[in-house]
Amino acid sequence: MKSLLKPSIFVLSAAPFLLITYKIFFNKLGPEPVKEITHFTGEWTLIFICLTLSMSPLKRFTSFIFWIKIRRMLGLFVFFYATLHLLTYVVIDYRLDWNQITDDVIKKKYVFVGFAAWLLLIPLAITSSQKMITLLKQNWKRLHRLIYAIAILGSLHFIWLSKTIYFKPLIYFIIITILLILRVNFKNIFNR
Ligand code: HEM
Repeated sequence: MKSLLKPSIFVLSAAPFLLITYKIFFNKLGPEPVKEITHFTGEWTLIFICLTLSMSPLKRFTSFIFWIKIRRMLGLFVFFYATLHLLTYVVIDYRLDWNQITDDVIKKKYVFVGFAAWLLLIPLAITSSQKMITLLKQNWKRLHRLIYAIAILGSLHFIWLSKTIYFKPLIYFIIITILLILRVNFKNIFNR
């Protein structure tokens, strides 16, 4: 039973990808298909960032090691959905028009922070293996703290791109802020 948990989480995490693939192949994306794919992959990136950040607090509150065991997989799904999101923008939306893409990254602050978040995800994905954890030792922990910056950039990206409706982006911002506050070790701060 225990051995089925990890594969089940994998299948559940891949479900949004299967759903969007189904919608693409069966023409179920609605009147603005590119927008739909961009929004879908963008939101799932943010959801997986929140899930990844929830694992340590869950371990702390439940003392259940399982949460830490699935953290790496969830983190890799962040990279997976963020890359699909980026590819939708670069390949489908802008058809590899690099001048236009560079212009967007420089001129639109929401694209700039989104792109920065994706760039920061690369070293985390590359060093996610057990071999890298052993090789980098304490530096691995330091490097992987980049996920906090990525979470803040991702949530700013969502706030800045939403021209009028702030409700959803603010909910994500609040969830991310709470998840980051939960990792602060207040014991250490007050005993200093
Ligand atoms: C960690 C990285 C990222 C996260 C968490 C993220 C998240 C999001 C979210 C939540 C949305 C809105 C979804 C919705 O409206 O329901 C979105 C939209 C968008 N994102 Fe990202 N994103 C990231 C990276 C990027 C990158 C690298 C680019 C391009 C260089 C990008 C370009 C866009 C665009 C063009 C939109 C749609 C804007 C519009 O509707 O006008 N994002 N993203």
